[in-house]
Amino acid sequence: MQTRPFGRTGQAFPILSFGGQRIVDDHNCTEEQAVEIVNTAIDRGIRYFDTAWAYSNGQAETRLGLVVKHRRDEMWIATKTWDTTRDGARRQLETSLGRLQTDHVDEWRMHNVYDYERLDAFTGKGGALEAAIQACDEGLVHNISISCHTDPQILIEAFNRFPFTSALIAASVLDHFILSFAEEFLPFANTRGVATIGMKVMGLGSLTHEPERALRYALGLPLSTVIVGMESMAQLEQNLAVAESFTPMTDAERLAFFNDVMPLVSPQKQPWKATDWGNPTEWVPRNRGRA
Ligand SMILES: NC(=O)c1ccc[n+]([C@@H]2O[C@H](COP(=O)([O-])OP(=O)(O)OC[C@H]3O[C@@H](n4cnc5c(N)ncnc54)[C@H](OP(=O)(O)O)[C@@H]3O)[C@@H](O)[C@H]2O)c1
Repeated sequence: MQTRPFGRTGQAFPILSFGGQRIVDDHNCTEEQAVEIVNTAIDRGIRYFDTAWAYSNGQAETRLGLVVKHRRDEMWIATKTWDTTRDGARRQLETSLGRLQTDHVDEWRMHNVYDYERLDAFTGKGGALEAAIQACDEGLVHNISISCHTDPQILIEAFNRFPFTSALIAASVLDHFILSFAEEFLPFANTRGVATIGMKVMGLGSLTHEPERALRYALGLPLSTVIVGMESMAQLEQNLAVAESFTPMTDAERLAFFNDVMPLVSPQKQPWKATDWGNPTEWVPRNRGRA
């Protein structure tokens, strides 16, 4: 599989990486299946694994940890803090390290910075970023990261405040049409050597009838790597097949795909960019352009 450099870290990862949110009972994935999927992903060359403290009451991290325990050197582990406070985030980090059965994570993200108030909380006095810097000094965390689905301008403001190593961003074909991270954030990130990880590739389910084109579209963006949430061996095999034979879409193929997915461009099909995730009826933008 093609590899790409991961920002300034000196690492390079295959273009397909593993979204670890879905290897849980909630997604009809047993512990045994989860272990088999993660082991197979490593055997087939995947190195980058994303998870979070918040996923399924810890089951996602705990299941990843069952493999980490045996294969730590073959894995780059990214997890996240949901808590925006210094002390709360520190507690979440310690819990994550225990569940993951490791003494450090390669990346620790400020999770889902969906508006400026949440960004202020993470980066302000007594915020989680202070815990991240301290954890870096202690060797518990090797790189500090951030994730955002809603508005690329929030991320640009985040990078004006702190030089995060990487950013996890929404990068599906649907994201092309509204508050586009590909248009607004990737040029900014790529001139600064920021590593970028694409998510929402399958549109959180909206594009699962088109998995091949959905993945090919995202792999064609100038991202460092792309995570896909995979909860079965069949999905892993299918996504590996696309990534291993990846060629970028031609302009004509991309335009045809845009045309086909246009009916899906709505707050209901893209709730991560809607005003209210729980009852999505209108597009975000929350305080767009705030100085
Ligand atoms: N803010 C954040 O930082 C944040 C938020 C959410 C997720 N994430 C991360 O991103 C990862 C990906 O999640 P996402 O929200 O971006 O979702 P996604 O990858 O767009 O969608 C994942 C879903 O797509 C389906 N799928 C995957 N491969 C497929 C294939 N080959 N054929 C058909 N369906 C396929 C599966 O759904 P079904 O089988 O259920 O249909 C799978 O659960 C997560 O695992 C997590 O690590 C991060």
